[in-house]
Amino acid sequence: MQIGTPLSKNALKIMFLGSGELGKEVIIALQRYGVETIAVDRYENAPGHQVAHRSHVIDMSDPKALRELVEQEQPHIIVPEIEAIATDELASIERDGLAEVIPKARATQLTMNREGIRRLAAEELELPTSRYAFAESINELKQVTDGAIGYPCIIKPVMSSSGKGQSLVNSSDELEAAWTCAIEGGRVNQGKVIVEEKIEFDFEITLLTVRSLGENGDVVTSFCDPIGHIQKAGDYVESWQPQAMTETALKKSQNIAKKITDDLGGRGLFGVELFVSGDNVWFSEVSPRPHDTGMVTMVTQRQNEFELHARAILGLPVSVDAMSPGASAVIYGGMDEKGIAFDGLDAALHISQTEVRLFGKPEAFVKRRMGVALAYANNIDVARKNAKLASEKIVPTKGGDN
Ligand SMILES: Nc1ncnc2c1ncn2[C@@H]1O[C@H](COP(=O)(O)OP(=O)(O)OP(=O)(O)O)[C@@H](O)[C@H]1O
Ligand SMILES: [Mg+2]
Repeated sequence: MQIGTPLSKNALKIMFLGSGELGKEVIIALQRYGVETIAVDRYENAPGHQVAHRSHVIDMSDPKALRELVEQEQPHIIVPEIEAIATDELASIERDGLAEVIPKARATQLTMNREGIRRLAAEELELPTSRYAFAESINELKQVTDGAIGYPCIIKPVMSSSGKGQSLVNSSDELEAAWTCAIEGGRVNQGKVIVEEKIEFDFEITLLTVRSLGENGDVVTSFCDPIGHIQKAGDYVESWQPQAMTETALKKSQNIAKKITDDLGGRGLFGVELFVSGDNVWFSEVSPRPHDTGMVTMVTQRQNEFELHARAILGLPVSVDAMSPGASAVIYGGMDEKGIAFDGLDAALHISQTEVRLFGKPEAFVKRRMGVALAYANNIDVARKNAKLASEKIVPTKGGDN
């Protein structure tokens, strides 16, 4: 792939659909190679907007608005960063040859709906998953939970992310509340939920998997060391790398990741989410893009997940070499307020071997991720302790002048 001069006629132009903290880092990584970047989001001054060459605010789930912007900007490559996109329109943009979609438009179509990716993984590729069923009414839900799935189980809208609309259900008394929560919490009201058996795992991991081009132009698959993480209310709060696991479980994890990413195809980095118990591994879901738990790689790998994605997109070789064990801990807004400030950055960074990223989001919510603290150490426990400590030193406050 030839890279021209940004902002000139021969520029290689890459458009981001979604420009949050993950997109922002990929944009920075691409700019280091002289790529012209265009950041799109649904609100102004999103993190990626603040570093891209140009930015736009549109409703990315509106097919017409999406098409118009692509025709106006004429990017060579489109990089989706979120799931809530008009993915069918993205597929016609790809089909019409307007732009290349990373990794492929089909991957964004399949992963935006839990039904698509689950049926592909379990039924076509025969990967191990939790038992599951779909329901389109409260009666149907009762039937499948009392029947094939049993309790405890987890009920989720087919279209949602960050745990929205999800509930853990222990008995049939709780079904009605779970149904309402899923229907109201879904991204689009599909009137459909997935019920999953609750897996009693020892830990869960994200296996970052990269599809890049090798020397002869063939796709090569590489695996980063497994990332362990803790989720609370559907959002990750802490992650660390490497997560210790048995050789057998690691091999199974890599086999699952290889099969699903081979099927999704294209180039780029994927976050394959897996549950692990001893030597047993279950596929949960996959993001065809960098993963929030993978922010830890900013201190643990020579090429972090954003650089790996950027290189894979550009058809360049990658290295998943590890640098040091490390951990990340999320910094929340702690309040519903616009234009907040942060105190304590100095105190956080006085803890040795730590780093902090503040994303620059224009508006905080109590549970909105506003930044992340990172720590590296010879030992995971020390790294986790220091990342947590550093995140606690950062204190969000209202406004103030500078
Ligand atoms: N079948 C299951 N058994 C046990 N735990 C589960 C199951 N499904 C989900 N979980 C727990 O809930 C978390 C969120 O689930 P999932 O990844 O499906 O939701 P999500 O809304 O797509 O979240 P995100 O967008 O943050 O990845 C998982 O990481 C896991 O901790
Ligand atoms: Mg998930």
